[in-house]
Amino acid sequence: MLDIGKLRNDFPILKTQVHGKPLIYLDNAATLQMPSVVMETLESHYLMQNSNVHRGGHLLSEMSTAAYEKAREKVAKFICVKDSQQIVFTSGTTAAINMVAYMLAEFGLQSEDEILITEMEHHANILIWQHISKVTGCTLKYINIEKNGCLDMDSLQKSVNINTKIVALTQLSNVTGIENPIKEIISYIREYSNAVILIDGAQGIVHCDTDMEQLDCDFYCFSGHKLGGPTGIGVLYMKENWLRQLKPVFFGGGTVYEVSLESKKLYDTVERFEPGTPNYAGAIGLGAAIDYWEAVSKSDLVIYEQALMVYLEEKLKAVGQVQILGKAAERKGALAFEIAGISAYDFCRFLDLFGIAARSGYHCAQPYINALGFNKVTRISPAIYNTRQEIDKLVEAMVEIIKVFERNSNNDDAGSRRGHFTRFKRTSRFD
Ligand code: ALA
Repeated sequence: MLDIGKLRNDFPILKTQVHGKPLIYLDNAATLQMPSVVMETLESHYLMQNSNVHRGGHLLSEMSTAAYEKAREKVAKFICVKDSQQIVFTSGTTAAINMVAYMLAEFGLQSEDEILITEMEHHANILIWQHISKVTGCTLKYINIEKNGCLDMDSLQKSVNINTKIVALTQLSNVTGIENPIKEIISYIREYSNAVILIDGAQGIVHCDTDMEQLDCDFYCFSGHKLGGPTGIGVLYMKENWLRQLKPVFFGGGTVYEVSLESKKLYDTVERFEPGTPNYAGAIGLGAAIDYWEAVSKSDLVIYEQALMVYLEEKLKAVGQVQILGKAAERKGALAFEIAGISAYDFCRFLDLFGIAARSGYHCAQPYINALGFNKVTRISPAIYNTRQEIDKLVEAMVEIIKVFERNSNNDDAGSRRGHFTRFKRTSRFD
């Protein structure tokens, strides 16, 4: 059994206060907090071995290179990949998806080809494909969603055909916490097309099955900070056959073994995709985060997180005014809702005054939220270190905030009501 109290001690930020209240951090789908072992690893790296990798003729560079390559091995093992050469370090999921899109476009997309994504995607897995379809002239198609927020499997079946060249989809929604039946989807696509399959694993890496051998996708992308690693480090896994077939889209030092004024010879190893100085400190920090999670029992973790999500949903449903997005037998890591008459932004800023961190807006998934019939919404995304007591505090705060808005609406006319509360300084673009 997991001792959550003990586990919480590993995350120093959870002991801090916000507006004089103990922090209740429920924005984990955006960024997971960092266990102290990751900070210690980074500190020790910078204190003892900091040096550029793959270049220096000295001990520090050797140590730094060894730690960087060790981190690559840890990532490979974490997602059940035998050869760490299939792990490219990027700056994050977004960079990884963009990289694959440009590489595949160069590999060959014709105007009759089709790219298939879903209405459920994060903007990171929409915008680049819109761009690629525009510049190559190929067609971008969407698998629709059902009213309950799940992918419409009929729409999938209608969309896949011999012209489908790329399918890019998320493993787990960052809005509703709904998981796609990714294995079934991949085997269907494999049966009816020769499409290359990319999985956006930004949320899936934390909550879902991430065994690459089982998944059988061509590319899998994720970010380090969703796992408690540093920001600015991400991972692109590619199936072995792509390693030498694809040409990099970024060039620079570290990718070549011979250069003349006319030509270059690229390494046929993973270095060809990592030009310039890589974020080796970030990778080493991510390696430490992976070590941390490897030491926690996966089955205990899944059971705890599932029970917490069920508790959260039940509690929220009991607050009458809350309308939850989507409906699923199980949600993982996130749940979003609207409260009639209260803007999500104002609502979150009020939660913040209670020490509660949540996210509001379109969650970088506007087409999905709009398709579900909503606009900007509030998202609660618990993690393994959150507790039922924190969920209770969230619900107590929500009830109080709703009362304040109701009191205000009784005193004011509806027109001035919004004006009263939409007065927080906007600190983000809020998309
Ligand atoms: N993609 C991140 C989120 O869902 C930032 O909040």
